[in-house]
Amino acid sequence: MELYPPLPALARENRAFVIKAAGWAARQRIGQFIDLGAGLPVYPSVCQAARAVLPAARVAYVDIDPVVLSHAAALLATGDGVAAVDADLRDPAAVLGHQDLRAVIDRGRPVCVILGAVLHFLGPQAARAVTAGTCWPAWAASPSSPSGQAARPPDQDVIAGCGYAREIL
Ligand SMILES: C[S@@+](CC[C@H](N)C(=O)[O-])C[C@H]1O[C@@H](n2cnc3c(N)ncnc32)[C@H](O)[C@@H]1O
Repeated sequence: MELYPPLPALARENRAFVIKAAGWAARQRIGQFIDLGAGLPVYPSVCQAARAVLPAARVAYVDIDPVVLSHAAALLATGDGVAAVDADLRDPAAVLGHQDLRAVIDRGRPVCVILGAVLHFLGPQAARAVTAGTCWPAWAASPSSPSGQAARPPDQDVIAGCGYAREIL
């Protein structure tokens, strides 16, 4: 924060966007969410935002950080349609094929893929692969919600890979 004072405001704005996007998707009757790089604990969570609209919404929280995953397991993975998934989002096939994710996400129904403040940790090539691999092929009719911080605008390929993103940005 000393090096970059706007950081707290950026984090709050990002979180507000993620919650707004989850609520928007739920109001479109999308009842499934994959939160990639979930970063728990956060309040409100995607689950809380979605279930405020659709009480039966299902959420898979994906992260690679053991601390995040322990919070997810303790707070959220209660067996009622919420899962904590230990996976690296740079491997979309492993994420989408993970048994814990598949236990709560039905591939035959629309799903909202959330990439909140995580793509900027990856290089442009990996970000393209992640958006193409998780947002695009499996659910062409589903929305995605990317957000992040960058020193320059994201590649058009990354934006295109995110499907509906432009409609809610
Ligand atoms: C800045 S936090 C964002 C939290 C939340 N998505 C939000 O928008 O408020 C980024 C999260 O992404 C996770 N992350 C970073 N690289 C990852 C990777 N390759 N695979 C899975 N999670 C990753 C980190 O562990 C961290 O929890």
